[in-house]
Amino acid sequence: MKKILFASSETHPLIKTGGLADVAGSLPIALAELGQDIRIIMPNYQAIKNCEAGHYLCTVRVNNCDVHLLETRLPNSDVIVWLVDYPPFFNFPGNPYHDESGTPWANIGDRFALFCRIVVEVAMDRGYLNWKPDVVHCNDWQTGLIPALLSLEDNKPATIFTIHNMAYQGLFPSNTYTLLNLPGKLWQQDGLEYHGMLSFIKGGLSFADRITTVSPTYAQEIQKPEFGYGLEGLLAYRQDDLSGIINGIDTSIWNPATDSYISKTYSVKTLKHKQENKLALQSSQGLPVDADIPIFGLIGRLVEQKGIDLVLSCLTEMVSMPIQFVLLGSGDKSIELKLYDFARLYPEKIAINIGYNEPLAHQIEAGADIFLMPSRFEPCGLNQMYSQRYGTLPIVRKTGGLADTVVDALPESMRDSTACGFVFNDPVPSALIETIKRSLILYADKSAWQKIQRNAMLKDFSWQNSANQYLALYNEI
Ligand code: ADP
Ligand code: GLC
Repeated sequence: MKKILFASSETHPLIKTGGLADVAGSLPIALAELGQDIRIIMPNYQAIKNCEAGHYLCTVRVNNCDVHLLETRLPNSDVIVWLVDYPPFFNFPGNPYHDESGTPWANIGDRFALFCRIVVEVAMDRGYLNWKPDVVHCNDWQTGLIPALLSLEDNKPATIFTIHNMAYQGLFPSNTYTLLNLPGKLWQQDGLEYHGMLSFIKGGLSFADRITTVSPTYAQEIQKPEFGYGLEGLLAYRQDDLSGIINGIDTSIWNPATDSYISKTYSVKTLKHKQENKLALQSSQGLPVDADIPIFGLIGRLVEQKGIDLVLSCLTEMVSMPIQFVLLGSGDKSIELKLYDFARLYPEKIAINIGYNEPLAHQIEAGADIFLMPSRFEPCGLNQMYSQRYGTLPIVRKTGGLADTVVDALPESMRDSTACGFVFNDPVPSALIETIKRSLILYADKSAWQKIQRNAMLKDFSWQNSANQYLALYNEI
């Protein structure tokens, strides 16, 4: 049995802005089920919900700050969560990265540097918890200083750094380095320095014993300039320590047979009930209620990564087709405004929901026929897997985890029953429109469509396989 300290800036259902929270809320449970002693550590944000109030464990002093550690558990599990409680940094409304109005926290570097220092103290068992991990598993730039600071310790635990997204690196001006009072020894080109700036992510990429990312294809892609954002050289240099492990999904939360958010539960055996969710979605979204009109769904952060500009370029042509489109997301304000404009022009075809809404995300997965995910890059992506489980066939671009989890419906994959969605290559509107048309042709063939739905719904997206791969890695280091 390994002792694992799992550090993340967000964990579902306590707090979530994206897929990292889904992973941090489900991979540790899968590892606990494999008999491992795993504890999650994260900041104690004001917005944390859905868990018992944390009870006081101890106080740790770092960089002249007295920080409390509180203990709670992941709901419906025995997995312990340690909350790093420092009200001057974390007791504000908003999310881990922004205030309520969407403005990034001005002191975000201080916040996550403090978080990393506390994780290091806990990892070295200097928090009087009488528990020293064998492995510290770090996730994304917010935890990047942990492997760097641990590299200065004797008898340190092994470290893994998982990249969920290379586009976010935690880059700060060089004077932040001094203000954060970080050890001078780490300010070097093969340390935390990146072209004269402080890079949190480089702490993970340079110092972790192993680097993983969330799909095998993305592990290859980030070694190239297009996806490596300037760190492709370092990643290629560390290729022997770098691997891709595809994310699983929480099959208890994302299960159409038990989902309490949806109008009518269904499974592959009762697929006909999916239609009730479609009618309910049309009605709740103010769209004409008609079982025959295919609904395209889209859920996600409205940022360039997600290829939302491709969708915007296609919308005028899409509304000339017999379809409906339901979107849920938030992000770039100019994208939000453009989407609202379309919805105003075509209220019978387009429904736009700006904001974060978990029940609606489930209702779209259950009610839509086709899910749009034309990402320009996608380290793993979870919605294309949720969609398949709900028999909502995804249209994806062939990149990252999308390439690894969706098999295009072509004659051969139809024959061998592996077809489970639609895939296109070039990130251009014409390729997306062509794929949308292709999906509509198959949609018109009910028996072919149901066959692909069944293929998709029967796929195993559970964590078991991936959790075993992480465990093998923990054992190796
Ligand atoms: P990313 O982490 O890049 O945002 P993923 O596909 O890995 O993309 O995960 C996104 C997660 O966030 C999914 O669980 C998705 O359902 C959820 N999500 C994204 N936007 C919203 C929203 N506006 N409302 C509810 N859930 C959302
Ligand atoms: C990131 C990526 C997404 C991935 C998620 C969880 O947010 O953008 O592709 O699924 O992390 O690993």
